[in-house]
Amino acid sequence: MEALQDGLIEGEDERQKYFQIMYQETLQMSCLIDDLMDLIKLEKKEVSLFKTAVDLREVIKKVAFLFHHEADEKQTSIEIHVLDDLPQIYADRHRVVQILKNLLHNAVKFTDQGTIKMMAVPDGKYVKVQVADTGMGIPQNDLERIWERFFKGDRVRSKNNKGSGLGLAIVKQLVELHQGKISVESELGKGTVFTLWLPVIDGITNEVKTGNSFSPHTHE
Ligand SMILES: Nc1ncnc2c1ncn2[C@@H]1O[C@H](COP(=O)(O)OP(=O)(O)OP(=O)(O)O)[C@@H](O)[C@H]1O
Ligand SMILES: [Mg+2]
Repeated sequence: MEALQDGLIEGEDERQKYFQIMYQETLQMSCLIDDLMDLIKLEKKEVSLFKTAVDLREVIKKVAFLFHHEADEKQTSIEIHVLDDLPQIYADRHRVVQILKNLLHNAVKFTDQGTIKMMAVPDGKYVKVQVADTGMGIPQNDLERIWERFFKGDRVRSKNNKGSGLGLAIVKQLVELHQGKISVESELGKGTVFTLWLPVIDGITNEVKTGNSFSPHTHE
């Protein structure tokens, strides 16, 4: 910006290149601030959910579409495998979109010329959602740490990763706020599978009726 202000960049084409960099950097900074604000509020338990019946099938399709272009550029396909009669979940739609966007963004970022599958099936009082990729995988030693804020893994392996290591910390907080659960399995060089469980709407109604404790630990 200083160079532009001082008139040191000559020619419109050259100036456009600088504008493009400024635009990208500003977007990135704006995302970072949004993520930081979200995480601070989540950790202070200051986020309230606006829960309604959510059609996961529709949300998964929407999120997959958002990353379609980026995946195409990396010659990676995004497949959707969702049952027609998937039960609705009881969740904050906007937050579920945020969870799936973070997971799919990672899958696309860390996969070249591969396949990403987004799956959803009923599983007791939950819907089980999986985002599975055939990308670079995560070393076993890092698997515990990926949920920590600012954890970014090996910088050499993912040198093009411009993220700040906040995505999965936010995902974990949001899943837990929904009384759900998330886990990860990965094999270096083969790929990664994130599995999350979100409560179905019937499960919630039963719990209110019977007063049973509502815990996803049966799935561990
Ligand atoms: N699908 C995946 N394949 C391989 N590595 C992954 C995958 N998802 C996450 N990781 C590893 O976990 C780290 C943390 O992920 P997280 O989403 O929290 O941060 P980020 O993607 O680096 O940055 P941000 O999400 O803030 O843009 C990543 O930097 C990467 O090393
Ligand atoms: Mg991320």
